[in-house]
Amino acid sequence: MCGIIGCTGAFPALDVLRGGLRALEYRGYDSAGIAFFNADSDILTVKASGKIKNLEDKLDTIPDSEKISFCGIGHTRWATHGEPTERNAHPHGNDRVQIVHNGIIENYRELSVMLSREGYSFKSETDTEVASLLIDFSYKKQGNDPLKALAKARSQLEGSYAIGAVFSDRAGEIYAMRRDNPLIIGLGESESFIASDITAILPYTRKYIRLGENEIARLSGKNVTVFDEYGNACEKQTETALWDVDSAKKGGYPHFMIKEIYEEPDALAKTLAPRISSDLLPNFEGENIDVKRLASSKRIIITACGTAMHAGFIAKYFIEKYARIPVNVEIASEMRYSDMIIDENDAVIVISQSGETADTLAALRLAKNKGAFVTSVVNVVGSTIARESDAVIYTWAGPEIAVASTKAYVVQSALMSLLALAMSLEKKILTESEVKALTGKLLHDLPSDIKYILDMRDEIYSAAQYFADKKDLFCVGRGIDYFAAVEASLKIKEVSYIHSEAYAAGEMKHGTISLIENGTPVIVVSTDKNVRQKIVGNIRELASRGAYIISLSTPDREISDVSDKMLSLPSESGEFLPIAVATLLQMIAYRAAVLKGCDVDCPRNLAKSVTVE
Ligand code: AGP
Repeated sequence: MCGIIGCTGAFPALDVLRGGLRALEYRGYDSAGIAFFNADSDILTVKASGKIKNLEDKLDTIPDSEKISFCGIGHTRWATHGEPTERNAHPHGNDRVQIVHNGIIENYRELSVMLSREGYSFKSETDTEVASLLIDFSYKKQGNDPLKALAKARSQLEGSYAIGAVFSDRAGEIYAMRRDNPLIIGLGESESFIASDITAILPYTRKYIRLGENEIARLSGKNVTVFDEYGNACEKQTETALWDVDSAKKGGYPHFMIKEIYEEPDALAKTLAPRISSDLLPNFEGENIDVKRLASSKRIIITACGTAMHAGFIAKYFIEKYARIPVNVEIASEMRYSDMIIDENDAVIVISQSGETADTLAALRLAKNKGAFVTSVVNVVGSTIARESDAVIYTWAGPEIAVASTKAYVVQSALMSLLALAMSLEKKILTESEVKALTGKLLHDLPSDIKYILDMRDEIYSAAQYFADKKDLFCVGRGIDYFAAVEASLKIKEVSYIHSEAYAAGEMKHGTISLIENGTPVIVVSTDKNVRQKIVGNIRELASRGAYIISLSTPDREISDVSDKMLSLPSESGEFLPIAVATLLQMIAYRAAVLKGCDVDCPRNLAKSVTVE
């Protein structure tokens, strides 16, 4: 989704803005632009559609003397209103004000009618330009006072926004305000920054403050003042990012996606080890969650989007199995507008890597309004979802930059499995020794199975090579393997653009099997021994209609015989093997995308953190 960067102070602004925009690329974008004060204190605005390289090429045509600057704002735009053209790229505004904006202004039509009556005309199709001209209108009315202008505009704007603004007669100053869209302010030695997330400013500082809802900030060099919604200057708590600069770099890997897959064993250790005692019992003491309360729930509702929701399926499987609590997994974008029956007796668990997904946040707010106790499982410390939840458990996966979520899914699934074991113990369903055996599998055997899988390069290549040039494929499984297939299917779609459908293997014959033709690739996940015989039957049904079967199973002669290709899985992690299988499927999806020459880390049309509806 869109990204904002801005800087004022000692550093050459164009270097900071370029670097920041590059660091924000991972969020997904289709045009970029910057506005900066030059040596004569005039604002220059440069924009380009497509990649940041196009913007840099344009900047290269400007004489160096024109590019001396110590203050500017920049933006990567992921189109919502209007096509991804240069005309629609940010910054927007006029000769008095230029703004960059993340989010959606919902009442932009009404505002544009009002502004047209006041003599304004519009050059773009964007809601952002309307917001910029509204700010300009207020600026003129409020005696060229940026704070008053922004406060007035805030009272008129509906929707979500994080805005960075520069005013032509305020050289060296940046203004920012936000509602329902994140924005942080970086604090340097002699400079300050605005950014959508910390990765954009990590080379310069790890100290930052979070701009709160409806707050307005003024930045000038190292001086930062934040005003609350009543216009009073307020104290803000300084936070320090734990991520280092290298964790947000590729570190020798060709793509972030593959780097992040290789980080899975380490991310698992960081996430699980602090929650497991030396005698292998789950231990959430000292954390801001209430295992007792969760364990005593009549029902648990898990809500999330995309891959995070798929981790919710794994959680459902293990919570129902070990803690015997019924679990509903709800699509957050559906739940937010549903009339769901939910009250204070329900425990709601929200899963999100970014902690900023708009639909997930809305589902969380709905659950809280209805009185449910909300626990979130989040990777980004201090994110909006983490802050608005009643309780939070962090996954310690480090920054996930690739749009395709990989390590976050693995750690979410493993952490939720550990939580299921903790609940089981609390409810005295499994004995201590049974729990210890399972916890050991999670802590030691799961990472070791994943490491084994990471070495299966030839098998991964050959599986991906088979379907990389196909248009359609299917991923099937039964029980928890079906949940693994659902996530595999999403991963293949998003990075390799191959149409893929996930099916519960036994359901294919109720309609979908009509799509199977000679050579149609079907990936079969088979780890669950309870349904092994059933899946063999399903494979036979598919194979006899021409499907090309790629099975993922622990060594099994019969499955191998009925498959065209079988990838042999390790088995140390036992019941948790479906989590390790995710790594294998992520690698297969990655390899297929590379074979097809896709933009692996920034797949078309997608954004990393989906902060709009
Ligand atoms: C998957 O690879 C995705 N990019 C996407 O489905 C993602 O998991 C979803 O948008 C939720 O994001 P979140 O975890 O940051 O809330």
